[in-house]
Amino acid sequence: MTTPPVCNYEGSDYQQSFWEKGGREYEDRAEAIALKRMLPKSGKLMLELGAGAGRNTPRYAGFERIVLLDYSTTQLIQAQEKLGCSDKYIYVAADIYRLPFRDRQFDAATMIRALHHMADAPKALKQIRNVLRSNAVFILEFANKLNFKSILRYLLGRQKWSPFSLEPVEFVKLNFDFHPKAIRKWLGELGFSIEKILTVSHFRLGLLKRIVPARLLAALDGLFQPTGEFWQFTPSVFVKAKIKDTVQDDEVSLNVVDLFKCPDCEGEKLEEMNDHLHCTVCESNWAVREGIYDFRERMK
Ligand SMILES: C[S@@+](CC[C@H](N)C(=O)[O-])C[C@H]1O[C@@H](n2cnc3c(N)ncnc32)[C@H](O)[C@@H]1O
Repeated sequence: MTTPPVCNYEGSDYQQSFWEKGGREYEDRAEAIALKRMLPKSGKLMLELGAGAGRNTPRYAGFERIVLLDYSTTQLIQAQEKLGCSDKYIYVAADIYRLPFRDRQFDAATMIRALHHMADAPKALKQIRNVLRSNAVFILEFANKLNFKSILRYLLGRQKWSPFSLEPVEFVKLNFDFHPKAIRKWLGELGFSIEKILTVSHFRLGLLKRIVPARLLAALDGLFQPTGEFWQFTPSVFVKAKIKDTVQDDEVSLNVVDLFKCPDCEGEKLEEMNDHLHCTVCESNWAVREGIYDFRERMK
């Protein structure tokens, strides 16, 4: 199966350079407010897609178990250093376009700042839909092409692409901004119903961020976030979507290996070996190293 290219964060110090030293306390706090408004208080199994170094993971503490999925093992190792190794966290290196999970396992999923890297967003969203149970909640953050700054730049002739058209814009290689209407359409086609929309980062302006304390600016952002129900002109938008179907799902096994399927043949019989999982259907082996299940490429 051919899949779109991956924006590779292997070896990246993204968490440090972008968040901790990059002057992004305001954005981080504003996202925390939006997540709190959208997250269920509790749940059994959460899937965090494009989890990175686990910046948001502590915000999902109400869930019994959380699967952190990312393509980059170096990001997952940073997440492990932050969160530790316990039964609560399951670390999985895999491609979002080729999810290694059986259908209908998760009662919630989040994807924050990761759709941004998807050259084929509908394909990624379809994979996610497949692993969600009836009534599952999906919280999606996307970068909005229809933001104030891009509209202004376009109207002043400083930007060639139109923020008003529905197709995604790739402004830097493998970095995409999306139109809110396109996101709503894709989610609707997959059977999601949209429960809430919050606009986030209204005040992402260097000068404001320098003069107003991050905590205060984020609190102000929180006041404006609910206007997302009516219009979306911020650089970041959070959508809470829900699967509405009437399928009676099976109980989810507590045995971690039972969550997985082989991403090559989709076989659901994986055997736990010493340092790998073995697919009894296509005979492929998938490494398990330092607490990370690695489904990117089969072992040689
Ligand atoms: C901008 S970071 C966001 C990390 C985290 N969600 C946060 O908000 O701090 C994007 C993450 O998505 C991951 N990613 C990008 N493409 C991916 C793919 N196809 N499959 C899995 N992870 C991917 C990257 O490795 C990176 O850690």
